[in-house]
Order: sequence, then structure tokens, then C-alpha cells
Amino acid sequence: MLLHKYVIIFPMSKIRIAIIGVGNCASSLVQGIEYYTDNPNASGLMYKKIGQYKIEDIEVVLAIDVDSRKVGKDVSEAIFSEPNCTKRFSNVPRKGVIVKMGNVLDGVADHMKDLIKVDLSQSSIDIVDELKKSGADICICYLPVGSSKAVRFYAQACIDAGVAFINAIPEFICSDVEWSKKFSEKKIPCAGDDIKSQVGATILHRMVTRLIEDRGHKIDNTYQLNIGGNTDFLNMKDESRIVSKRISKTNAVTSILDNKDIGVRIGPSDYIPHLKDNKVCYINVKGTQFGGVPFELDLKLSVEDSPNSAGVMTEIIRSLKIAKDRGLSGNINEISAYAFKSPASQIRDDQAKKVFEDFINI
Ligand SMILES: NC(=O)c1ccc[n+]([C@@H]2O[C@H](COP(=O)([O-])OP(=O)(O)OC[C@H]3O[C@@H](n4cnc5c(N)ncnc54)[C@H](O)[C@@H]3O)[C@@H](O)[C@H]2O)c1
Repeated sequence: MLLHKYVIIFPMSKIRIAIIGVGNCASSLVQGIEYYTDNPNASGLMYKKIGQYKIEDIEVVLAIDVDSRKVGKDVSEAIFSEPNCTKRFSNVPRKGVIVKMGNVLDGVADHMKDLIKVDLSQSSIDIVDELKKSGADICICYLPVGSSKAVRFYAQACIDAGVAFINAIPEFICSDVEWSKKFSEKKIPCAGDDIKSQVGATILHRMVTRLIEDRGHKIDNTYQLNIGGNTDFLNMKDESRIVSKRISKTNAVTSILDNKDIGVRIGPSDYIPHLKDNKVCYINVKGTQFGGVPFELDLKLSVEDSPNSAGVMTEIIRSLKIAKDRGLSGNINEISAYAFKSPASQIRDDQAKKVFEDFINI
């Protein structure tokens, strides 16, 4: 039998990214691109290749921040500037990408004004123009929690500039029908909201509570306490800024449970400066087992917070580029359900991984 083989050859291309917010997450992402380019077989990555794309294909072409210790510096230097405190695991050579001044809006909380040094004499660049000039394919929003106006401002700038959008923060953009429609109308894909770390508190809590229900026990109540010493945790000391964070983290767990009528408290709990970027999470579950007998489970997770989300971000970037290459638009739920705490539609993690792999392998 004669087999006809059709080989489709895609041109190898770079994925040009813009970063909004050059904080600890951006630092780990930029370091990670360098690290896995130099050590392609090193552990810590879930997918070496997604479609045709390797990590080394990701290239930062634009970086925006408002802190005067970062603005004006090459991105390779800005990622290690204070108050960033995540671990240095890679040497990043000069990139020739100078961090530009963004639009502050509600990005800097009142109680953070002594720590985030904004030079008010500096005016914001024209974001739409800079996005267009940079040739960015995808823009990542890494703003502080509670930047409700700022995230919408940058999302709209991406729509106006025709740039795909990734929302790493707990503001409901890609999961919102109206925003997703706006991206669809401009034929731009987006993925979000609130990135789910590789082995973090959310996926662990989801897995363990599902395990308990799948094995026939009943959950009566659960809590998840999180402490850390980075600027993300300091920012989240203001309870008024973390309303959406609590909703995002709580729904991420309760949405996949059969019995939602339980006592639940999940969210950021305290800022402990000496922990720096080390996040510690405590999960407790109480319930009833066979014969109505009570049980209790306690779990502690201690991880470097920012690298824990950077690996997942490298997957989101590469899969969203695939969506862009295929001409898809609006929220790409195959990516969002896998990689974010608040996708438009929630599915269990084992199913989400399958759906994601089907999507990237087509
Ligand atoms: N594992 C994780 O690290 C993880 C997981 C889920 C979500 N997130 C979210 O990702 C976001 C980024 O986290 P991070 O640890 O890098 O925070 P960070 O505080 O280290 O960085 C935020 C950066 O944004 C800058 N910024 C503030 N206002 C701005 C504006 N208007 N325009 C441009 N830049 C502005 C700040 O100067 C800072 O450099 C947070 O919202 C965090 O909650 C992180």
C-alpha cells in the first residue's frame, strides 16, 4: 500500500512578548527563558516543546513598569532591581530592551507608596504606539493585585494595538464575556485570569479535596492560609485590594467540588518580610469518613513563589502563539482552564491537562 505523507513545514519564528510589570514573576520568566535556552534538558519544565515552539523562541521586545529603579534600565538589569527579591538562578545578558514608563492608575497601593518609587515627573509612554512599534505578538499583564483600572487600560491597549493578551492577575478580563467578545471582534486571542502555579497552593488544594470526595469522604470545612515576604504579599495586606483574589482562589477550589455547601476560607494571610519570595501555604481539611467518623488533614507547602508560575507562563505564551497562528480569537479556554485559577469555564485538572494537550497537539 502506498502511503501519502503530507509534511507541513512551518517557518520557525520567534514569539515576541511585551511585559507589563517587571516584578518578581517577570524576573523568573526572563531568567527562565535564559536558563532553559542554555540547559534545554534541565528539569522543572512540563513541556520542552509546544507545537514548534521551544522556550528559546520566546523573546522580550517590550517591558513597562512605573518604579523609577526599573524604568530606564535594560530589562536584564531591571529584573534584579529592588524591591524584586526572587532568587537569581540565571545570568541574563543585556537584551537591548529598556524598561519604559507605564500609566500608574491604581497600580500602586497607598500603603506601598514608600516602597514603589514612582517618579511623578515622568510621563507615560503611548502604550498602543509602543506595542505596535515593538512588534509584540503577546502582552503579559503582571500588575499588582487590585490594579482594576490599570489592567483594563492595558487590555484595551492590546486590543487597539492588535496584540494577544495574557492576564496573570486576579481581575476578571479573559473570563468576562464582554471582554472576551472585544478580543474576538478584533480577532485577537487572550488567556486568563490569575495564573495557576506549577505545584502551588491552588492545584494542591484542588487535587486533595477532589481526592477526598472521589474516595467517598465528606468535606465539612477547609481553609488555605498563605504567607510570604515579597511585594505581592505586602500589597495584599490591604484587604480592599484583594476582593477579587479571594474570589478567584476560593472559586478555584469550590468550583470543582460536588458538595459546595462547606465552610471555606482561602486567601493571602500575612506578609513576613524575611520570607522574601518564599511562599508558605497551609491547607487544612476536616470532614467525615466511613461510619460518620471524623478525619482531619493538614498540609504545608513551601516554595519559591515566582519561579513556580514562570514555567506555566512559558506554556501559556507558546500555546497562545499557536492559537494566534491558527487565527483563533477571544478567550482560549483550552489554555485558560489548564493554566489559570479563574477561566471562563472550570474543569478538573486531569481533564484540563488532556484538553490542553489535545489543543497543542492538533
Ligand atoms: N506564583 C505567582 O507568583 C503568582 C501566581 C498567581 C498570580 N500572580 C500575580 O501576578 C502579579 C505579579 O506578581 P509579582 O510577584 O511579579 O508582583 P510584583 O509586585 O513583584 O510586581 C508588580 C510590578 O508591577 C509594577 N507596576 C505597578 N503598577 C504598574 C503600572 N500601572 N504599570 C506598569 N507596571 C506597574 C510594579 O512596579 C512591579 O514592578 C500579581 O498580581 C500576583 O498576584 C502571581
